[in-house]
Amino acid sequence: MEWKEEFSVGIPEIDKQHRVLIDCISDLEQAVGTQQRWSAVHSTIGRLTQYTQVHFAVEESLMQIHGYPDLAPHAAEHQRFASRLEALHEESLRVEISAHMIAFLQDWLQHHVMTGDKDYASFFPGVVVVKAALDPSAAIGNKPKKRSAGARQD
Ligand SMILES: [Fe+2]
Repeated sequence: MEWKEEFSVGIPEIDKQHRVLIDCISDLEQAVGTQQRWSAVHSTIGRLTQYTQVHFAVEESLMQIHGYPDLAPHAAEHQRFASRLEALHEESLRVEISAHMIAFLQDWLQHHVMTGDKDYASFFPGVVVVKAALDPSAAIGNKPKKRSAGARQD
C-alpha cells in the first residue's frame, strides 16, 4: 500500500502521520511476506501500535479543540482499531500473522482516512485556506476538470 494524493485530508501534519502509518503497515507486510522471524513481526506491530495511539491522540485533540460534533463516534472507531492492534501484537507472540490480517489493516486505514478523517478535516476552518492556497478553485467548490497529459494548452 502506498500513499496517494487522494488520501490527503488537507492538513500537512496529519497527512505526514498517515504516511508514517502506511509505511509502517508496508514494513509489516514485507516482514510477513518474506517470512522474517516472529520477533521482527512482533516488534513491527509494536511500533505500529504505538504510533497509531499517538496519531489518534493528535487527531482527537484537534477534533476537541475545534468542537467537532462527531468526535465520540470517531474516537470509538479509533478505540476499536487500537484494541485490535494491541490484540494482534499479543497474538504475534504465539501465532503467525496472516497476509489476510495485513490486508484488513490496510483496508481499515484507507477507509477511515477517506471517510472519517476527511470529514473532520473539512470541518476545520483552516483547511479550506490550506486547500485554497494550493488550488483556489477548491475554496469556491468549482474545481475545473484536470487536463489530461496530452491535452492542448490553448
Ligand atoms: Fe481518525
